[in-house]
Amino acid sequence: MTHARQQTIQVVAHRGASEEAPEHTLAAYRKAIEDGADALECDVRLTADGHLVCVHDRRVNRTSNGRGAVSTLELADLAALDFGSWKGREESAESPDWDPGREPGRSSEPGDFTSVLTLERLLELVADAGRPLQLAIETKHPTRWAGRVEGRLLEMLKRFGLDKPPGDPDVPPPVRIMSFSARSLHRVSLAAPAIPTVYLMQFVTPRLRDGRLPAGAGIAGPGMRIVRNHPGYIARLHRAGHRVHVWTVNEPEDVEMCVRLGVEAIITNRPKQVLAQLGRG
Ligand code: G3P
Ligand code: CA
Repeated sequence: MTHARQQTIQVVAHRGASEEAPEHTLAAYRKAIEDGADALECDVRLTADGHLVCVHDRRVNRTSNGRGAVSTLELADLAALDFGSWKGREESAESPDWDPGREPGRSSEPGDFTSVLTLERLLELVADAGRPLQLAIETKHPTRWAGRVEGRLLEMLKRFGLDKPPGDPDVPPPVRIMSFSARSLHRVSLAAPAIPTVYLMQFVTPRLRDGRLPAGAGIAGPGMRIVRNHPGYIARLHRAGHRVHVWTVNEPEDVEMCVRLGVEAIITNRPKQVLAQLGRG
């Protein structure tokens, strides 16, 4: 591995530093920022009353003490739930060198580990991070809402001034939108052409084999399983002119493989370890 190559890889914290803190909580994102992640990944879903919240699963059952689908619950219902204790505060605080209460310049807030996180709050955190930080936002089950997820998302990005390309061509856009749904990305690309889009792939289906992506998708987002099983496909994506962002890359040998293949971004639950492996820790 050469350091020149390693420096070019963007390290993206998947659901925050989600190995150490409960996924999609402020604590997980604060930790990722402190660890030096280049970008933050989050999933967004619409609540029954139209708020975008950062929750991965369709239901809240796994990551909270509640039950039910996010789409049937209102923000106030989600705000009453505990989204952190399933992981265990002790487990979250196991990292010997980190406690949000000891973060330089700030103390933790009571809800950091347990509150549902709205996209709005995450955008505020990024705006206050004090350094350039990118966001990779994934639309979950967008088809159910026939464009409402993308509509609300783009509205909010506009409100934060994140829907325009940066003035300096050397500065990467602050936000990109990812999805397994080509239709979702197509909608985004029509409504907000300046926002990069990432097409997430679990399998290399016949229509993806030649390295071309569906209309509206700019960046390729293969899962690590594709990279392991079809390493030649990464070169094909590159030849077709696509940057490649791989998820979810946690094991050192997978990081090594991504480096060797020259991918542009690694999405990981362990930003600190990956940065250390890349010589940036
Ligand atoms: O970053 C892409 C990755 O998050 C897609 O899979 O299931 O973790 O949302 P999932
Ligand atoms: Ca995701």
